[in-house]
Amino acid sequence: MTKYNVIEKILGDRSYPRQNSGQAFAPSNIALCKYWGKRNAELNLPINSSLSISLAHLGTHTTIRMAEGMDSISLNGMPLTLNSRFSHRLIEYLNLFRPERDFYFDVKTDNNFPTAAGLASSASGYAAAARALNNFFGWELEDNLLSILARLGSGSASRSIYHGFVEWEAGFHVDGMDSYAHVLPHRWPDLNLAVLTLSIGSKPVGSTEGMKRTVETSVLYKSWPEKAQRDLDQLRLAIEQKDFELLGETSESNALAMHATMIDTRPSVLYWLPETVAAFHQIWKMRSEGVKLYFTIDAGPNVKILFLRNDLDIVRAVFPQCEIITPFDFSVS
Ligand code: PMV
Repeated sequence: MTKYNVIEKILGDRSYPRQNSGQAFAPSNIALCKYWGKRNAELNLPINSSLSISLAHLGTHTTIRMAEGMDSISLNGMPLTLNSRFSHRLIEYLNLFRPERDFYFDVKTDNNFPTAAGLASSASGYAAAARALNNFFGWELEDNLLSILARLGSGSASRSIYHGFVEWEAGFHVDGMDSYAHVLPHRWPDLNLAVLTLSIGSKPVGSTEGMKRTVETSVLYKSWPEKAQRDLDQLRLAIEQKDFELLGETSESNALAMHATMIDTRPSVLYWLPETVAAFHQIWKMRSEGVKLYFTIDAGPNVKILFLRNDLDIVRAVFPQCEIITPFDFSVS
């Protein structure tokens, strides 16, 4: 089963665009129950279901048009060479949708979160690309199919099709037609995040390679699918009941368990810097003093702090360099 087979199922024959251009925005997202480990690397099918929160207005705007003679790609207003890593990956994705071999795309993509915020751009990037292609070609696909198309670009992009709390079901079919995200009906306006950027350098090991190594060599990983399922159930409950302690405890424990499997990998994958560990200790110290802060962390050194709005001043005072995110409030930045 290849990506082309999946596209065939969703689109049938590749059509010509119905519009001059297709535009779209998709939010970035941060997982509270992480996606870690693929059951199918070609289709980005996960071993476990995951749950995230989308970052409202922070994300990617993408515009797609037809180009003459060759593809043209720009990122944040700067034209990219076609053999850069970014272009290479995007062109492989665009290849899935060309109505003819010599059909070319002009793609302009802009992330509105500061590059220095250390947020992953592939999630919002591939969700925005899937939506922009849908508008350009006039496919009128439902969101669950767009979520599948986004997943073929990057697993976590399947969740960036939606705002708010989003669950991506792992599914079990070989073609992954049951592996897409859906939005949870709950809002939690007081829930805030702070991104603590400790390094903007590129990661030593990308998430695809990190997952592969973990699944192949970590003994601890054997307990991960069950742990992730338990955490997912707890998170759903926490969101339903607006139980912040349960949400924070579960998210933090889930992130630490994922990192434990990475550390257990041969050769070990350790994304933390001394500053990362110092931030953990600071958050734990503040919690022991009664301030309800929790953290989550992805495949990198930057820490994302979960807190409720009434602790905003404390968070700003203790972490003056952090970027505050209000996932349910589109007017505040
Ligand atoms: O979608 P990818 O391949 O960038 O993987 C994302 C992996 C994590 O960010 C660590 C977890 C997640 O669920 O977002």
